[in-house]
Amino acid sequence: MEETKMATFRILDAAQTAEKLPFADLIEALRIGFSVGCQLPERHHHTMHRVGEPDATLLLMPAWTNPEDKAQYLGVKLVTVVPGNASRRLPGLVSTYMLYDGLTGEQLALMDGNTITGRRTVATSALAAKYLSRPESSRLLVIGAGRVGSLIPDAYRAVRPIQEVQVWDMNAEASNRMVENLRSNGVRAKVVNDLQTAVGHADIVSTATLSTEPIVKREWLRPGTHVDLIGGFTPKMREADDHTISIAKLYVDTPEALHEAGDLVQPRESGLISETSVLATLADLSRADRFARENSDTITCFKAVGSGLADLVAAKLVYRGMKEG
Ligand SMILES: NC(=O)c1ccc[n+]([C@@H]2O[C@H](COP(=O)([O-])OP(=O)(O)OC[C@H]3O[C@@H](n4cnc5c(N)ncnc54)[C@H](O)[C@@H]3O)[C@@H](O)[C@H]2O)c1
Repeated sequence: MEETKMATFRILDAAQTAEKLPFADLIEALRIGFSVGCQLPERHHHTMHRVGEPDATLLLMPAWTNPEDKAQYLGVKLVTVVPGNASRRLPGLVSTYMLYDGLTGEQLALMDGNTITGRRTVATSALAAKYLSRPESSRLLVIGAGRVGSLIPDAYRAVRPIQEVQVWDMNAEASNRMVENLRSNGVRAKVVNDLQTAVGHADIVSTATLSTEPIVKREWLRPGTHVDLIGGFTPKMREADDHTISIAKLYVDTPEALHEAGDLVQPRESGLISETSVLATLADLSRADRFARENSDTITCFKAVGSGLADLVAAKLVYRGMKEG
């Protein structure tokens, strides 16, 4: 019997992965992906003991398409977290995404996982903002000008008529670098030092920091602002204060946000909000517009902790783009 030809296997570096993930396409793919869902087993978490430096971690995050989906895919994000790399002046986190044919198990492509994570994260927030921010929102404030923060303006520009970007970071070098990059791409951008005034000026406030103290305060927000909290992923981390969380219309990417993110865990523990305070997940929003913003005065808040579903959606998009050439 003649042997069937195996699928072609490709390796894509960061630039090649990013090239296949234009934000407009990724946001639309995420809308479809969140409405359909996928299979997400629990992530694996392995500790690797080290001598003379902190333990390292290997994270395995699998996801695969629903059995009834027409095209079948299986993906695994592999993440190494090596705190000891700080002393070697090497990145502490390296991520790779492996995509397989979900039916046959053939390997299809190995992609840069950091790029998948960064782009799907800001695209997820932009998708939420499409439902939750005021349609005319043109003033964006980015708090945290790191790897994720610096991608926020491009993603938002795909869904809202952003005219002006303000950037605030506790590290002036990071905000200066981000603003320079934005300007060199023709975006009106500036570094801000007065956070209170900047928050009050913005239509959308998006945070991507590692903060454990609230940065965004309710008293600074004007009516109609959309607050997008990307950074905090443990119960100890905070980006918005209790008052913001208690008055805002709350939305999450997935229900896990309620159990993992300090911005929701802490106000829940103190009784300020309950599980029912969250009005919808991104799956709800993507399936039906009825949960979206209803008037121009509401303060909305979207809290994301990230999802293997979004990784799989992005990896599928990269692979399809790769096949098209
Ligand atoms: N929601 C998600 O799906 C998702 C996905 C990826 C990353 N993240 C999270 O987003 C955050 C940012 O990730 P990154 O890869 O851009 O990190 P990064 O280290 O590249 O950038 C973080 C930036 O935030 C700044 N910062 C840190 N603490 C701050 C504070 N208290 N106040 C102001 N600025 C502060 C730093 O100076 C830095 O410029 C992390 O918490 C990360 O875990 C979330």
